[in-house]
Amino acid sequence: MSIALLAGPPPAQGMERRAEHEHRLGVLPLRQPSLIDSIERSGLRGKGGAGFPVATKWRSVASQRAGTPVVLANGGEGEPLSRKDRMLMEQRPHLVIDGAVLAADTVGADEIVLYVGADHTGAIRAMLRALSERPATERARLRLVSAPVRYVSGEETAAVHFINAGIALPTSIPPRPFERGIDGRPTLVQNVETLAHVALIARFGDEWFRSLGAGTASGSTLVTVGGAVPQTVLIEIPQGLALSEAVNAAGGITSDSDAVLLGGYFGGWVESTTAWGLPLDADSLRQLGYSLGCGVIAVLPSGRCGVVETARILAYLAHESARQCGPCTFGLRAISASAGRVAGLTATHGDLEHIQRWAGLLKGRGACRHPDGAAGLLASALRVFADEFMNHYDHRRCSITNVAAAAS
Ligand SMILES: Cc1cc2nc3c(=O)[nH]c(=O)nc-3n(C[C@H](O)[C@H](O)[C@H](O)COP(=O)(O)O)c2cc1C
Ligand code: SF4
Repeated sequence: MSIALLAGPPPAQGMERRAEHEHRLGVLPLRQPSLIDSIERSGLRGKGGAGFPVATKWRSVASQRAGTPVVLANGGEGEPLSRKDRMLMEQRPHLVIDGAVLAADTVGADEIVLYVGADHTGAIRAMLRALSERPATERARLRLVSAPVRYVSGEETAAVHFINAGIALPTSIPPRPFERGIDGRPTLVQNVETLAHVALIARFGDEWFRSLGAGTASGSTLVTVGGAVPQTVLIEIPQGLALSEAVNAAGGITSDSDAVLLGGYFGGWVESTTAWGLPLDADSLRQLGYSLGCGVIAVLPSGRCGVVETARILAYLAHESARQCGPCTFGLRAISASAGRVAGLTATHGDLEHIQRWAGLLKGRGACRHPDGAAGLLASALRVFADEFMNHYDHRRCSITNVAAAAS
């Protein structure tokens, strides 16, 4: 098998039914005492954005003493540029459920919550249908909860808060969900793609998973490639593949491009000349100061201004702030307003200096990492589009779109 998660029937065929899934991959091997060790050897990291080592999280949950654990399969996917989780659930729901069942058996959980974005209707349909195909003993501990449509709903404490109290807003930490989560019990929150990888590692082993990677990288990963490509597509690539090869696999670029947004709204801008050669491997990227985030590769088309795009994303993130913490609520709003004026060629004195200063002040100042993500994106934009920011601010002119502010 050359590709892991998306091998099997083509997307046009819809979800893979349970009989076909088991025929193709074999029956799920339950209760594997050494699964955590195998996951550790596989090098699998979380696919929800932060890239946390999976085995470490499972051990932490399994070692908690206060209450029977719960598993939360996170398919909220609030990131506007990502498609991977909803399409995975639409096409391979049984892989996700297999992974969640294995996780529950391994950490001793008696309940599994499948948390799926309410607007991912195809995914919800497929997951419900897949649930109906599972044995009654499994169905008894599985339930699907649809997540409110907003960016922070998929943040792990927000997801737990929603399930506990119907409010999809982050809560302060500690306690983290692995200590006290759903119903006050230790809760393993794991992205749905992460769980699907576990379902294959349990079947084919850690060595097999490692062998999927390119070079020294381990495993495969799902990426959503969009922007200056023929159409936004979900592809599965060997970790470590060069970014240019992933873009070529998505059909190649449709226009020149000066920059790539890597990792989505929580990631950062990278100059194309650097981006094309980057290895798409979470560890290597981290060492180079970049992040694969939730696997988004958005190629900025020629004729689109990075300053304007950044201002648009910041406005979105400011709007999506859960408005619970001052620095996030007011800081993001102020940065977004200044960035909007710079982008719109209507900057007032000090706007750019404010943006530069505030970008450094946002990090680590909220209950969740929402402001950190915005700060990282902004810092990368100030670096990659430095000349264009100056054009917009000092000369009131956009050299990409050739628009200049009307003389006042
Ligand atoms: C603002 C915000 C939004 C997030 N949204 C998602 C999401 O939609 N899906 C997801 O899996 N993780 C999301 N995360 C990350 C989760 O908090 C958590 O780290 C993840 O679900 C853990 O799974 P993983 O270790 O398999 O990646 C978000 C984090 C933040 C700060
Ligand atoms: S940091 Fe922002 S998004 Fe996170 S809890 Fe505070 S106000 Fe809400």
